[in-house]
Amino acid sequence: ELRSKLNERKKHYTNSQASNYNSGVGFVPTMGFLHAGHASLLQQARQDCDIVVLSIFVNPLQFGPKEDFERYPRDPERDLALARQAEVDYVFMPETAEMYPEPIKTMIKVSDLTDKLDGASRPGHFDGVATVVAKLLHIVEPDRVYFGLKDAQQVVVIQRMVKDLHMRTVVVPCSIVREADGLAMSSRNVYLSAEERKQSLVLSQALNQVSGWLEASGEIKALEQQLTAYIQTAALAEIDYVKALSYPSLLEIAHIKDVKAGERLIVALAVKFGRTRLIDNNLLDVN
Ligand code: PAJ
Repeated sequence: ELRSKLNERKKHYTNSQASNYNSGVGFVPTMGFLHAGHASLLQQARQDCDIVVLSIFVNPLQFGPKEDFERYPRDPERDLALARQAEVDYVFMPETAEMYPEPIKTMIKVSDLTDKLDGASRPGHFDGVATVVAKLLHIVEPDRVYFGLKDAQQVVVIQRMVKDLHMRTVVVPCSIVREADGLAMSSRNVYLSAEERKQSLVLSQALNQVSGWLEASGEIKALEQQLTAYIQTAALAEIDYVKALSYPSLLEIAHIKDVKAGERLIVALAVKFGRTRLIDNNLLDVN
């Protein structure tokens, strides 16, 4: 149904003399409980495209057995209001049974890029992400698909899948949107207690100091140690990983000088506050 509606609209734009736009369908996949980070992707899509499609689907396939699928925050009413505000044309909000009518037998696995950072801590997570995004791309057939750099590894994985499988869409990475005090926006921030919320500021504060710390030596090990020590000043912080790699190749390096031309340095971290796992990163131009 969504497909035939989109085809009608596309025809309209293609035939319309009056239309100044020409980038077709823009797509923003999300798991809902929308915030200003999601809104920034929708805004970019609205700027670039004739038709904007938003999907809201909490994808069970990308959650581990001990993760928060059941208690992932949901508020469809509020999401629809935000979608209307953002001038979204179509919202695709399928039931689990519509996306997975029977247990899936075909999965997409992007190798290497998924066995580090979040992929190392969440086995199978990126297989679930790649698979659902491939399904959504086949349903919506967008010209452009928008992803946030808050999940920088997800961007790399999807870009590689699109390239490897000759998918006909352009992946558009968008910058991280933060709260006024620096905390990266996330649907999971609502889980934080007042004290955890206060202490979570060490993450963005630590990442903000990276370029200064790098001027001292440029050694990656030293940088990771400084970040770790800084984050550990927050009593409630339980570090999962703090890691600096080349981006987008996600390769280990010893020194910033090892970052190849055309690549950047990503400093990425995952830290738990109580039951809530937060991720954040800083992408730096170093050459
Ligand atoms: P979700 O966590 O809902 O995020 C949807 C999109 O919003 C992702 O591209 C994410 O990077 C982006 N986003 C989230 N917080 C952001 C922030 N603070 N600034 C900028 N962008 C932000 O990512 C997923 O859902 C899922 O894995 C999905 C791709 C939908 C597949 O199920």
